Amino acid sequence: MTESPDGLARFRGILRRFTTPLLPDDYTVLANPLWSRRELRGKIESVERCPDDTIHLVIRPGWGVPVTFEAGQYIGIGLRVDGRYTWRSYSLTNVPDTRDGLFSITIRAVEKGKLSTHLVGTARPGINVRLAAPAGDFHLTDPLPEKLLFVTAGSGVTPVIAMLRSMEGRRDSTDIKVVHSVRNRSDLIFEDVLADYDAHIQVTSEEGRVSPQVLEKLVPDFRERVVYACGPATMLDELESWASDNDIEIRVERFTLDRASDAKGGTITFARQGVQTTVDGATTILEAGEAAGVQMPFGCRMGICQTCVRELVDGHVHDLRTGDTKEPGSRIRTCVGVAAGDVTIDA
Ligand code: FES
Repeated sequence: MTESPDGLARFRGILRRFTTPLLPDDYTVLANPLWSRRELRGKIESVERCPDDTIHLVIRPGWGVPVTFEAGQYIGIGLRVDGRYTWRSYSLTNVPDTRDGLFSITIRAVEKGKLSTHLVGTARPGINVRLAAPAGDFHLTDPLPEKLLFVTAGSGVTPVIAMLRSMEGRRDSTDIKVVHSVRNRSDLIFEDVLADYDAHIQVTSEEGRVSPQVLEKLVPDFRERVVYACGPATMLDELESWASDNDIEIRVERFTLDRASDAKGGTITFARQGVQTTVDGATTILEAGEAAGVQMPFGCRMGICQTCVRELVDGHVHDLRTGDTKEPGSRIRTCVGVAAGDVTIDA
């Protein structure tokens, strides 16, 4: 039996005639767990274990998963841990290639990182995972700027690795500088790619951190460069304010939800349960509901798995992840949506 989208669509069509009231999905996932249309799935194809609790995973996406992406984007990975699906997003480190359609990610086990610790401890080829499609605004522009500066720290290097790999062959036309920080030399990953770009590696336990003043010494023509930065929030906050003071174009990738927005908050009405609560513009609708005793389903709490989606009946909701404002009648992700005025939610 073919696994091509056309072949699968025909197979589903035939199944639909015979499987009612169950759905074709109920049977196709028995034949192959990657053939689900209700949710996006993938299978771990290979695992490379590195020192310091780090693994490189290659994932083969299942049926229906979009395989085109921009270098610098991330995918969502969901896995059952302690009986409940846990989701996290990971930057893709490979160059988009629709011929093989594979996703590469790198995971380091971090303290209190439930999914990262679980994956580093148990990942092996053949394990099925849930996926959220590639997404994210942290990617290169086309055409490339004449001069680029990448500033990364720790695992913040991962989205930049995909960008550097994607620029192989275009390096003659763009002047690229890379400054990467690690706490200890043994924390360094992707050493070969970074060496290829003659990156400055700062070992912070020996040399101190890369402050804007250090950056200015390392890259004297910093004002002429477009900056891409990824790392801890404190580093990104500092770089954003430095870039604003020096009129430098900067793009940052934050691995945590940025709650800063123009949303003022308001009174949220959970229509089905007849509960009202008043919140500020930084409290998500999911958090507001939980604090008021309204239980709603959730998965990743990061805007990637869609488990928490509810209808916005009235008012406007600001999406902290995309920056969009949602109109009445839209389906909103309550885990990343905040009230922009009074709102009514179908929950
Ligand atoms: S809980 Fe995953 S998108 Fe909201």
